[in-house]
Amino acid sequence: MLAGVRPAMTALSQSAFGVYVHWPFCLSKCPYCDFNSHVRHAEIDEERFLRGFVREIETTAARAPGRVVSSIFLGGGTPSLMQPATVGGILDAISRCWPVAADCEVSMEANPTSVEATRFLGYRAAGVNRLSIGVQALDDASLQALGRMHSAQEAREAIAIARAIFQRYSFDLIYARPDQTPAQWGDELRLAIAEAAEHLSLYQLTIEQGTPFYGLYSAGKLTPPDEALGRELYDLTQEICAQHGLPAYEISNHARPGAECRHNLVYWRGQEYAGIGPGAHGRIDIDGIRHATATERRPEAWLMRVETSGDGVTTDDALTRSELADEYLLMGLRLAEGIDPLRYQALAGRPLDPARIAVLRDEGAIVIDADGRLRVTQSGFPLLDAVVADLAA
Ligand SMILES: C[S@@+](CC[C@H](N)C(=O)[O-])C[C@H]1O[C@@H](n2cnc3c(N)ncnc32)[C@H](O)[C@@H]1O
Ligand code: SF4
Repeated sequence: MLAGVRPAMTALSQSAFGVYVHWPFCLSKCPYCDFNSHVRHAEIDEERFLRGFVREIETTAARAPGRVVSSIFLGGGTPSLMQPATVGGILDAISRCWPVAADCEVSMEANPTSVEATRFLGYRAAGVNRLSIGVQALDDASLQALGRMHSAQEAREAIAIARAIFQRYSFDLIYARPDQTPAQWGDELRLAIAEAAEHLSLYQLTIEQGTPFYGLYSAGKLTPPDEALGRELYDLTQEICAQHGLPAYEISNHARPGAECRHNLVYWRGQEYAGIGPGAHGRIDIDGIRHATATERRPEAWLMRVETSGDGVTTDDALTRSELADEYLLMGLRLAEGIDPLRYQALAGRPLDPARIAVLRDEGAIVIDADGRLRVTQSGFPLLDAVVADLAA
């Protein structure tokens, strides 16, 4: 059997274990978003969903017992639509099923409507210790164009409430919006940094297939920045954030050193995590073999599956060595710290191609640091997909 098609026996680092929990509902669907999020006009039976989450946590823990949980992330959808008691029930189930590290990071995504902000204190009491707020823009016209349900004032108030309640908080902005100039974005980013503490997520608008924005884009009614302007906006982002002590530690994520989101590092460093809830992905090592899991995406179908069989898993693939190595490249090269080529070699059963490395180095897309780590340069980041494809080939 070829090394590349053998299930991967080389477990990745076990130093971290994350639990991701997906709440799949939103008040309305933003026209740019292709996340697994659904709008329901009837009331959602949170108690029944909580029982589903608890059951799936128990089943997953039985497959991957004894891990020490180092991070939990409640994502969505809009988890801040959940009652604090539901969040508490999920966190209790996790700590009943696995030992939880004393310094476990417990992050939750929140939308900044005023109703949701009133629940922030309850989330902290339930055990959340880090909030990630979806601000997206700091002016009303842009928020309206993005189809958001909150005003800029509400967003600023939500940030202030988060600051008063949580030691750690972050917020997301979407830039490279239609008609946005570098001068406008620079001003908005400086305003954001003044409101930020230790972490900011700054995403370039992506036009995702199947979204209303994609329809408008295809009809020529929505024009995102072209490549050159996108690049200019990206470079400006790096420059301003670095000047303010918030360098990028990942292509879209900025933090003061030491304040990185530990849960997201689990994904990008190729560590192990459980995926709970509709449409959640996991990476679990069973008998030394890394499994990629995914659950049913449709919330009610997921719930029925969990109620009858204990989990909502629809995909459970043992990854081959080459799949695991490719994933390590794809995820690890997003990070400013880059990857360890020796670890790639151990996973793939072969080293990276020195000739390809040399070409990418000459082009200025990658560097090899003194400690041997291979990382993408700032000028290489906008070409990340091509760099990964080249190295993985
Ligand atoms: C899964 S969403 C959930 C956050 C939360 N529901 C909210 O909207 O505030 C996480 C983040 O992804 C980003 N995002 C979603 N769709 C995007 C797109 N098409 N382009 C760029 N960023 C996007 C937004 O910044 C959003 O806050
Ligand atoms: S961006 Fe957030 S609120 Fe909007 S549809 Fe996506 S998950 Fe829901």
